[in-house]
Amino acid sequence: MFVAQPIEWTDKGVVMLDQRRLPTEEISYTYTDYREVAQAIREMVIRGAPAIGVAAAMGAALGLLHSTASSIDALQSEFPEICDTLAKTRPTAVDLFWALERMKRRFAELCATSKSLSEIKRAMVEEAKLVHLEKKATDQAIGEYGAQFMPAQGQVMTQCNAGALATGGIGTALGVIRVAYQQGKKLHVLVPETRPYLQGSRLTAWELHKGGIPLTLITDNMVGHFLKTGKVGAVVTGADRIAANGDTANKIGTYQIAVLAKENNVPFYIAAPVSTFDLSIPDGDHIPIEERSAAEVTHLQGLRIAPDVHAAHPAFDVTPSRYIVAIFTERGVARAPYTTALRDLAAAPQPVVASA
Ligand code: MRU
Repeated sequence: MFVAQPIEWTDKGVVMLDQRRLPTEEISYTYTDYREVAQAIREMVIRGAPAIGVAAAMGAALGLLHSTASSIDALQSEFPEICDTLAKTRPTAVDLFWALERMKRRFAELCATSKSLSEIKRAMVEEAKLVHLEKKATDQAIGEYGAQFMPAQGQVMTQCNAGALATGGIGTALGVIRVAYQQGKKLHVLVPETRPYLQGSRLTAWELHKGGIPLTLITDNMVGHFLKTGKVGAVVTGADRIAANGDTANKIGTYQIAVLAKENNVPFYIAAPVSTFDLSIPDGDHIPIEERSAAEVTHLQGLRIAPDVHAAHPAFDVTPSRYIVAIFTERGVARAPYTTALRDLAAAPQPVVASA
């Protein structure tokens, strides 16, 4: 079955599929400078929480690989600037910061034990590739846990794009749907278009269509209508950051879907890796919400669709955990009370992946 490849480490550099051009054009770029990777994250060439974590890890490795530093000390003094540049791209998805922290830890270990610059550079590239490889294994495990909760047949709804394009694996929410579909469940996916950036219509519809999974594209204001018909068996979305109490930030519009799902007795699930947990914050009020350009609201593909007025663009919203029936992770399924369930999963061992 078709699996999109949003990012790949190659000998020539980091190759990314430009998600801004989908579904009409499939264009890739090869980046050799970490600053270009930071720009690609900010400008949404690559997007989706786990995928921007992979991009940040590869960006950090790229920065070291192409550094002209002539000593380990000099390389150590360059690394914080590389990581800061990558960190200052998008504020909500915690995977980005998780990946950078991991790269910093590995770098510190290597600097303390390695004999040469080339040994450190090589090992940092391997670490970035391992982050990517782990995302693939993580998605598969999330898919297998979550698939059991999908109905045997009928409609399921998602939001935004939490597919292969968003992770570098098979996707989180779409991974759950994909595994269930491959197990023989006869699912039909309702895909809200996800204004203003249209990740639903441009990306999720493209991925599902190419993968042969049946779908119906709907506009965002049809969500309540479809949930009320009684013909939606489950909603499953991804997450950008999950607070200690289970409150979850995801693409703008997710909150209203969750409320409408509860009102209509449709189970609402989150599918996300443990790296999306932010147990340092007690609840969703502490999650920073990215404010993106108003032009993404007033314009569509460069075409003005509103007068020149003030437009708001919070890119994410927070769904309180009381609306979430379960959270599927690679280490198992969390249910309320989330404070203990998430803490237990965070402490559980991560499935081991062979190195890249
Ligand atoms: O602004 P985006 O496209 O990066 O937002 C993506 C989402 O909100 C996804 O649902 C989330 O990152 C989970 S991706 C597996």
